Amino acid sequence: MTRINLPLDKCWKLLNHGPVTVITSAHGGKTNVMAASWAMPLDYDPPKILLVLDAAAYSRELIDASGEFGLQIPKRRIAEQTVAVGQSSGRNGDKFSRFGLKTFPAQQIAAPMLEDCVAWMECKVIPDASQRYDLFIAEVVACYVDSDRFHDNQWDFGPDPLERSMHYISNGEFFSTGERFRVPTLD
Ligand SMILES: Cc1cc2nc3c(=O)[nH]c(=O)nc-3n(C[C@H](O)[C@H](O)[C@H](O)COP(=O)(O)O)c2cc1C
Repeated sequence: MTRINLPLDKCWKLLNHGPVTVITSAHGGKTNVMAASWAMPLDYDPPKILLVLDAAAYSRELIDASGEFGLQIPKRRIAEQTVAVGQSSGRNGDKFSRFGLKTFPAQQIAAPMLEDCVAWMECKVIPDASQRYDLFIAEVVACYVDSDRFHDNQWDFGPDPLERSMHYISNGEFFSTGERFRVPTLD
């Protein structure tokens, strides 16, 4: 597996199929990780994303203070950990070590980035966008992919189900990203 930087104006493609994400954060020597389904692309260039971040989450505290977060699209091989970091709080102890999550340093932000993902975005919050509804707008400042899973501008999830992205339902249930099909387009 090699991580390859993607041109920033292409990063909307990574969220377009609606996968569950994992959000990492850091501030003042503390780091944290949580699950987030409510993330979507907002603009192409400069690329922006939307994220709903519960005011009660410990991640919210770190992200409010640092103005940054890492967003990653986990592989099905860490489905159980994805749910676990979404059902427990970093206020009660370090979730990276508790759930055996491996990380690597980001390129442009302080938050650690997670291994076992198909794609990663490093994000900087645009202040005061719409936080009345816990809505965060952030600019993507770096973006990279597992080159086995995304290349030639396309997803390639391959034959191993554990290498796929996931779509969260609730209560520990997901759909695995499924069959690709194409219809004729008008252009
Ligand atoms: C699969 C999944 C998706 C979730 N999506 C979101 C989301 O989009 N936004 C959000 O604020 N919380 C979401 N949550 C809940 C947070 O992950 C949860 O509140 C977490 O415990 C916060 O952790 P923290 O206190 O360590 O920051 C989700 C939980 C799960 C299991």
